[in-house]
Amino acid sequence: MPSYFTSSPGKVILFGEHAVVYGKVATAGSLGLRSYCLIQSRTDKTVEVSLPDVQLARTWSISDIPRQDQWTGYPYPPPMNFELLDQLTKFVDLGTHTNRSQAAIALLYLHSYLTTDSTASQGYDFSVRANLPVGAGLGSSASYCVCVATALLQLNGHLSTGLDKETQRDLINQWAFQAEKVIHGNPSGIDNTVSTLGGAVMFKKGEKIEPMPGFQSLRFLLTNTRVPRETQVQVANVRKLREKYPNVVDPMLDSINEISTSCKQLFSQEGLDRSQLLTQFGELVDVNHGLLAALGVSHPALEKVREISSKLGLKSKLTGAGGGGCALTLIRDDVSPATVEVVKQLLEAEGFQCMETSVGGPG
Ligand code: MEV
Repeated sequence: MPSYFTSSPGKVILFGEHAVVYGKVATAGSLGLRSYCLIQSRTDKTVEVSLPDVQLARTWSISDIPRQDQWTGYPYPPPMNFELLDQLTKFVDLGTHTNRSQAAIALLYLHSYLTTDSTASQGYDFSVRANLPVGAGLGSSASYCVCVATALLQLNGHLSTGLDKETQRDLINQWAFQAEKVIHGNPSGIDNTVSTLGGAVMFKKGEKIEPMPGFQSLRFLLTNTRVPRETQVQVANVRKLREKYPNVVDPMLDSINEISTSCKQLFSQEGLDRSQLLTQFGELVDVNHGLLAALGVSHPALEKVREISSKLGLKSKLTGAGGGGCALTLIRDDVSPATVEVVKQLLEAEGFQCMETSVGGPG
C-alpha cells in the first residue's frame, strides 16, 4: 500500500519588502521551519484530510467525486491544465469554504484523481502538520501546498518517470502555485517558489524568480511579536507617503534595491571569508531596517526586538509587511549559545515567540 512522506520549508524575506511593490529587487530564503505531509492509500473508497494542528478533519467518499464520464468539455484524462482546478470546486462540498487550505488539498487530490487511471478507485488519507506559525508572513500556506503537491505527484507516479530534477521542481511549483491561488487569490508566487527550490532567491515584479548563486545557510532567531499586522494597510501607508514625498521616498526605495543587490554580491564575492560575510550581512540588516522604519512600517514591538538584540551585539530587522508580525535576528557563527539563550529569554519575557532557525536550507 503506497505511502509518501514529504516536507517543505516556509520562507522569510531577507531584504526588499515594500520596495518590491515598486519594481525593486527583494531577496527571500527558505526557513528551517517546515510543513510535513503524509499520504497513505486506503483500501476503502474514502478520502480523509486531517490537519491536527488546526483541529480539522474532513472525509469524502470517492463516489461524491465526479468520474471522468461526467465531465463535459474536457478530454479524459484531463490535460495538466490548471484551469481545471477552478472547475473542480463546483463538484465538491468544501464545507464553509472558510478553510481555504482544505480547499487546496481537495483540489489537488481531485486533480490527481482525475489524471490517472491507476489510482482512480483508491481512497487516501492525508495528514499535514507544520512547525511554522500560521498568518505570520512566513509562507506557511505555500509550504503546505508544496508538500501536499509533492506527495500527490509522487503518488501518481509523475515524479518517477525519468524527469530531471528541474522539471520535477517546475511541476511541483506549478501545482503548488495553483493551490496558493485557491488560498490567496492572486499571490506573487514567491512563497511557493522559495519553498520548492530552497536556498535563497532574488525576485522582482514581473520577472522570473532567480536562485541566489553561492548563498550560504545562515542562522537566525525569528521573533514573532504576535502583534497582528495587515499587509494591505502597511502597503497603503507606504504608498501615501510616497505620493506625498516622492523625492524623499523614491531614493529610499532605490537604496533598498541596492541592499538586495549588495546581498547578492556578498555571496558571490571571492576571497570574502564567512566571518566578514556575516559582519557585512548584519550591516545590511541594520540599514534595511532603518529604511523600513523611516518608511513608517516598524512598530514599538519590532523596535523592542532591535533594542534587546542590539544590547547583546546582534542585528535585527523586521521581515515582511511590518507594523507587527516577525523580526529576524542574525546569529553570527561567533555568537555563543548562552548569548542566544539570554536574548531569547529577554524577548520571551516581552510576550514574544522566539524560534531559532536556519535560512537557506533545502526545498
Ligand atoms: C509582504 O510580505 C511583503 C510586502 O512587500 C508586500 C508585497 O510584496 O506584496 C510588504
